[in-house]
Amino acid sequence: METKEQYLAEITALDQELERHYAPVMSLDNSLTRQLVSFQANKEKPLYRAYKYKEAFSADLVAYLLQTYQVRKGRLLDPFAGIGTTLFTGSKFGYSADGIELVPIGQRVITAHNYLLHHITDKELSILKQWRAEKPWQNTDKIQPVPSLRITKGAYPSDTETEIGKYLTCLEKESEQVHAILLFILLCILESISYTRKDGQYLRWDYRSGRNAGKKPFDKGKIDTFEEAITAKLHEIISDVENSEDKYNLFHEQPDYGEIHLLKGSCLHILPTLESPKYTAVVTSPPYCNCYDYTRTYALEHALLGITEKELVQLRQTMLSCTVENRSKDLLCINPNWKEAIAAAEEQPLLHKILQYLDYQRIQKQLNNTGIARMVKGYFYEIACVIAECARLLKEDGLMFMVNDNMRYAGASISVDLMLSNIAEQSGFSVENILILPQGKGNSSQQMGGYGREVLRKCVYVWRKRNLCDS
Ligand SMILES: C[S@@+](CC[C@H](N)C(=O)[O-])C[C@H]1O[C@@H](n2cnc3c(N)ncnc32)[C@H](O)[C@@H]1O
Repeated sequence: METKEQYLAEITALDQELERHYAPVMSLDNSLTRQLVSFQANKEKPLYRAYKYKEAFSADLVAYLLQTYQVRKGRLLDPFAGIGTTLFTGSKFGYSADGIELVPIGQRVITAHNYLLHHITDKELSILKQWRAEKPWQNTDKIQPVPSLRITKGAYPSDTETEIGKYLTCLEKESEQVHAILLFILLCILESISYTRKDGQYLRWDYRSGRNAGKKPFDKGKIDTFEEAITAKLHEIISDVENSEDKYNLFHEQPDYGEIHLLKGSCLHILPTLESPKYTAVVTSPPYCNCYDYTRTYALEHALLGITEKELVQLRQTMLSCTVENRSKDLLCINPNWKEAIAAAEEQPLLHKILQYLDYQRIQKQLNNTGIARMVKGYFYEIACVIAECARLLKEDGLMFMVNDNMRYAGASISVDLMLSNIAEQSGFSVENILILPQGKGNSSQQMGGYGREVLRKCVYVWRKRNLCDS
């Protein structure tokens, strides 16, 4: 049996071989600042800023890629649409765009953003202004119970919970559209009025909540009152709708905007049902292979939307495997045409060695979670199927852009960029660029303790669908 050192040496050698292969297309792109590639650059952008989705990329990144690579006009696809950054930016530049999103909060944000941008009427806007001025929820005695999940119980100070309950009562009197907008506005402020902070893998609880007794106390700082948060958000959204240069609604017709289409569910199930070839580009960022759990992080919002415990578990299992709890999916059962895609992942020598090593470390009880090997395997196999579907759905010469981070587990670097590019090459793409962000990412604190610091590449991959006659 190999030792840990032997495994790591073999992984390094295979990694270097792959890096040499892609060296001609790998380049540092100083335009790709951390701000541009993350949600940060959206913080001042009307409507994009309404709901803080930390996992989003920025509208400016999408614009930069569409312009730099002169993407032909036509239809865009984002199989991991999040809150729809690709869709709204593409639409603004005249592309139609289809987005697939699994998680209800992402779906809600996309629907609300689209409505506010393109469909809201003068009358509906004036009702929002009335809510801002008159705060009608303060005049009701009826308090609707605020739905919660096990992991969100006690998330709000009691006065705040009462105010939320009154707000929910008042919503009922409004039309379906105004109800949806006001509920969206409430979703936008939940974190700021709660004892919690989103923290990737879970919700962190402020010491004032009384939860997590015995653990190191966490102070999230100011917790907004319901009134100040909801009034400020109403104000922001009203002014964004009125002033957004992006909007074409009753105020300014801009017929060049492309239409947006949201498909709700898992891209693993939806992609095979789409007809080919119809897209000129795919611009996407899948979940990273980093154990982040969107179902837990967005639990306040999912509870308010009435998602049950059972549905939450189902969502977690349907998500692309990116948490240690994901069980492996029967990909051939989802789509029997994925044999080649699965083979493309299976035949990655580097991935194979990494999986062997993680399994070895699991048996040695050296992994801080035994589900890591299964997660890494599921991640690559499932994305291989998504890549194959994107290749099928792209028109010839079409481009696929993917934002993703490399990872490190148990001291082994996982070059997601190199392996996914290799899988893409086997699925009908040529690898045009692997654009490296100037600022990489450190390791998790557990990793740094055990194995020393190594900066991990954050990249944007650019793959072009090969013409049939080139293959
Ligand atoms: C990194 S985020 C994408 C953010 C997006 N680029 C944006 O700007 O909003 C990845 C998204 O993939 C979604 N997701 C995870 N598994 C999925 C699946 N199987 N099908 C569709 N979406 C999925 C997550 O809910 C999350 O919103």
